[in-house]
Amino acid sequence: MNVPAKIYAENKKIIVKLPLTSPTGKIRIKRREKSSNYGIPIATRRKPFRENDYVEWQISYATEQPPTESKVENIRLNGQFGFELTKLLCEGIRYEILLNDDIQKMQSFIDSIEPNDTLEENERILREDSEFEVRGGFRKFVEKIPLFIKNNKDRGYFVEIILKHKQRAVGLQAMVYLCIYVEKLRDENGESLIGRTARAKEFGIIEINSANKEIIIDVVKAFAIASWQHRNDINSILTQVMSKCRK
Ligand code: ADE
Repeated sequence: MNVPAKIYAENKKIIVKLPLTSPTGKIRIKRREKSSNYGIPIATRRKPFRENDYVEWQISYATEQPPTESKVENIRLNGQFGFELTKLLCEGIRYEILLNDDIQKMQSFIDSIEPNDTLEENERILREDSEFEVRGGFRKFVEKIPLFIKNNKDRGYFVEIILKHKQRAVGLQAMVYLCIYVEKLRDENGESLIGRTARAKEFGIIEINSANKEIIIDVVKAFAIASWQHRNDINSILTQVMSKCRK
């Protein structure tokens, strides 16, 4: 089941609450396998959180029917409503966490992106011949899938852009994930989650303020390079939040 994030402002800070017990939704907890570097979903009701666990959030910026907890009513994109990243931008501007200078830098980054910079249109998934055969005469190929990671461990997060084949069409699709270390989350009592299991329907809480606002900026940058469509969408969102989210 997909349990959405809750995003709101409190005391001029942005509070983000992320579900910890929804392994099949767009927000789930993962643990990096040392041997493969791969993030595996974990059953948080049974396994205690560890320091390197992270919340993987397939964050979006607009949808037809956003959950009320993160909807931005007056921002529209092709008949959809802004939510999630749009709400982070909107509240960030409203409470002066994101300053004019931050907005201008994001704007000029987006403006600088050219058609040959975007990943969906310019990257490829490859199948390499290993020249190795297994039993029965089957030849081994290894698929190479591009993956882009911007790590900001000091601030407690990283952003991943993963490419995959489109399900019902030709071409690639870039998926953007905002990953936040569980170590940076707090529970309802302001305590760390590390070392214990998740409670039923529990949420982890992170505050976004001027010290870690790069989280928002890096997700904007990720969408700006993910595909030409995302670049244009995020450009429109940014223009709208600038005029509509002032105090
Ligand atoms: N569309 C909506 N959310 C997305 C995401 N996180 N990555 C890529 N495309 C999306």
